[in-house]
Amino acid sequence: MIPGVPGESQVYLNGEFLRLDEAKISVLDRGFIFGDGIYEVVPVYQGNAFRMAEHLNRLDRSLAALRIAQPFDRAGWIDLIQQLLARTDMETGIVYLQVTRGVAKRDHQFPSVPVAPTVFGMVSAWSPPTAGQRAKGLAAISIPDERWLHCEIKSVSLLGNVLAKQQAVDAQVDEVVQFRDGYLTEGSSTNIWVVSDGKLLAPPKNNLILEGIRYGLMGELAAEAGIPFESRRISQQEVEQADELMLSSATKEVLAIVSLDGKPVGSGKPGPVFEQLRAGYDARIAAL
Ligand code: PDD
Repeated sequence: MIPGVPGESQVYLNGEFLRLDEAKISVLDRGFIFGDGIYEVVPVYQGNAFRMAEHLNRLDRSLAALRIAQPFDRAGWIDLIQQLLARTDMETGIVYLQVTRGVAKRDHQFPSVPVAPTVFGMVSAWSPPTAGQRAKGLAAISIPDERWLHCEIKSVSLLGNVLAKQQAVDAQVDEVVQFRDGYLTEGSSTNIWVVSDGKLLAPPKNNLILEGIRYGLMGELAAEAGIPFESRRISQQEVEQADELMLSSATKEVLAIVSLDGKPVGSGKPGPVFEQLRAGYDARIAAL
């Protein structure tokens, strides 16, 4: 028994649907040994996967970046997600997908003989942010980004992100805002947004951040709301002087950050740009 995880829930592992407590992988799986794998987290509303095509496009990019063989074609992935959802009677939840390079003798280089990737999928219970979190906003602290230089790959090698998130927990705040060489990168598991002089700003899409599926979506929502959007390097000083800060991710959706390093951000309350983008996000979910 793993606390908080219902053992009877149905998961997919390497061609089979099983109870979670029956799903087992080899200790020589390269995901376990080296963190040699990739993943996706797809939110589900009203039983429908949100932005599924975009998540599957990113999954393809992550596999290609690590040169892991693609286990399914697009129809195969969609079928897997639909089967997982059908077996788990859940209206709101998270589809988690993971592919590792597979099982091989422990050796850093890629296996010299063809190895089948390990494919795992599960649906987990998840509650969207509460009305209180939406109305009150979150607190964050600034920290140096100490992760590797391929943050664009959605890899399961997440130790840097794990240590960053624990710093937030230790400081009794909700998230970290990371900076590399004096410029904003992202949160531990979120993209960070800055509002300055009525403009929405985000760091450029490069190897220093994961391009969240909400990155593209926020751009669309800003355009719909007539909010100018710029993707460029953002200095730590600009973040400290921002009118608004917010974060986005599959599980946090869009939330305001109202306090950074113990100081209020702007008015100290979720701001008008957040409210507009948040309303747009809600409309997209409702239209699913
Ligand atoms: N994390 N940046 C990092 C480092 C992330 O881990 C995530 C998502 C994001 C936002 O991406 P998206 O909008 O596609 O969720 C940005 C997921 C939710 C996780 O690891 O659980």
